[in-house]
Amino acid sequence: MADVVVVGSGIAGLFVATRCARAGLSTLVVTKKNLSDSSTNWAQGGIAAAMSKTDYEAHIKDTIEAGCGLSDPEIVEMVVREASDRIDDLIASGVQFDSNKDGFDLTIEGGHSSRRILHSKDATGAEIERALIVEARASPNLELLESHMAVDLILKEKSSEIKQISGIWVLTPEGVVETIPAQAIIIAAGGAGQIYRQTTNPSVATGDGIAMAHRAGAKVRDLEFVQFHPTALAISGERPFLISEALRGHGAILMTSENIAKWRLVGGEPGPHSFMLNHDSRGSLATRDIVARATDQEMKKTNPYEKCVWLVTSHLDKKEIQERFPTIQARLQNHGLELGGAPLPVAPAAHYMVGGISVDENGLARQCPTCSNEIQYPGLYAIGEVACTGLHGANRLASNSLLEAVVFSNRCAEHVIENISPSENEISLPEWRADGLSTLIEHIPLRRDRIVLQSTMTDDVGLVKRDARLQRAQRRLEFLRQEVDRIWRGCLPTQEIVELRNMIHVSRLVTSAAINRKENVGLHYNLDCD
Ligand code: SIN
Repeated sequence: MADVVVVGSGIAGLFVATRCARAGLSTLVVTKKNLSDSSTNWAQGGIAAAMSKTDYEAHIKDTIEAGCGLSDPEIVEMVVREASDRIDDLIASGVQFDSNKDGFDLTIEGGHSSRRILHSKDATGAEIERALIVEARASPNLELLESHMAVDLILKEKSSEIKQISGIWVLTPEGVVETIPAQAIIIAAGGAGQIYRQTTNPSVATGDGIAMAHRAGAKVRDLEFVQFHPTALAISGERPFLISEALRGHGAILMTSENIAKWRLVGGEPGPHSFMLNHDSRGSLATRDIVARATDQEMKKTNPYEKCVWLVTSHLDKKEIQERFPTIQARLQNHGLELGGAPLPVAPAAHYMVGGISVDENGLARQCPTCSNEIQYPGLYAIGEVACTGLHGANRLASNSLLEAVVFSNRCAEHVIENISPSENEISLPEWRADGLSTLIEHIPLRRDRIVLQSTMTDDVGLVKRDARLQRAQRRLEFLRQEVDRIWRGCLPTQEIVELRNMIHVSRLVTSAAINRKENVGLHYNLDCD
């Protein structure tokens, strides 16, 4: 029994957990691998924040423009105005941002009209994660359960007509499903990049939070807006590695092989050599939806088909960029590449779910309008990438995600603290179902199903869509669902099947959302909508 259970241990989960625990609520963080296995830990570029009032309007405008007008203007304004207080909170928690003689060393990324991104070299997320883990480990009232995987939310009958979220079933490392009653469940389980073949996300990003909440009747929205990062290192046989947009903010330029040939003819002098200038006057620093789509288009034009474009850094000060981007430099060295050297092969990879569990300004989950209206949601929250707050509209502005996570975690903590008091009362909840349990799951080839799912999503529900392909994906996913459901109903749960079930659930939601959106906007691009 805990007052509050937090699912996930990235910036959103750890920030909210420490605040709830500090207020005297017994708080439990459940995370399926190690605490630091989160997308936060892999975030490179930084955290966008208007640190002076004079930048508020511009940050609001940039966010709304990147979101193609679909952002909720009140949410955008709220997040931008609360940014600097939350940066102060992070610093108080021990986060060290880079500074120079003028104060914070602010950088710029695509879609920003000014330098407003705080960073810790190119490992900003890792620095935030480090500090928050230290803080969490030292917090009284806070228990951290690693290698424990949330399976499903528990709905309890409050009266003959009303059900309420009252706890969570959690898979232990020993393979037992425990029942954990709680007054509030905060889902901070991150995104679902793993539903695609190429992703910049860690292996834990399997959409667990979205799937779990949706199964319990929560509303989800905007799931058709999947953000592909344009510059993931594309080395055959290697998992894509993020090459931060901050590098383009520092002057790196995207080019095709043809651009490079012309550029070499003029001695490698800086100039208008990037294909990106044919797509947007901001060139390599246009917003991510535009850069990723343009890159994809250029790759498809080449014959034979080239699996990458190139990020050119040789015109930049080698020593300076290698010092500024040490994480990227270290990774490149493993492949015989370096910053300031030969062009780097890059290609788009799934990076961020703009959509998610629909929440209000405090992270409180909304109920699905078509689901039973007998379920009440006073105790279900979602924050971080798993949530859809309305900030990002149809496309997220670079480095606005860590900001959104910390602003909503803080608001969520305040709301929970205001509405929940420490309790000793035991709630009695149903045990995990014990039906079936005869099939030996080891003998069932789930790995193959996961690959089929990733191929379906990549080929048919990727950067550029077509009606017929979306329909085909829907049919294939339905077939997978039936297969995996059959296994699920008769097996002892393992992390593998829990994840696969969630990935199928989220993929189906993403595909339906893409089918239902009939106009091309932001990250949603269907050739049959033109
Ligand atoms: C990057 O460093 O390019 C990623 C930042 C982000 O996703 O906002």
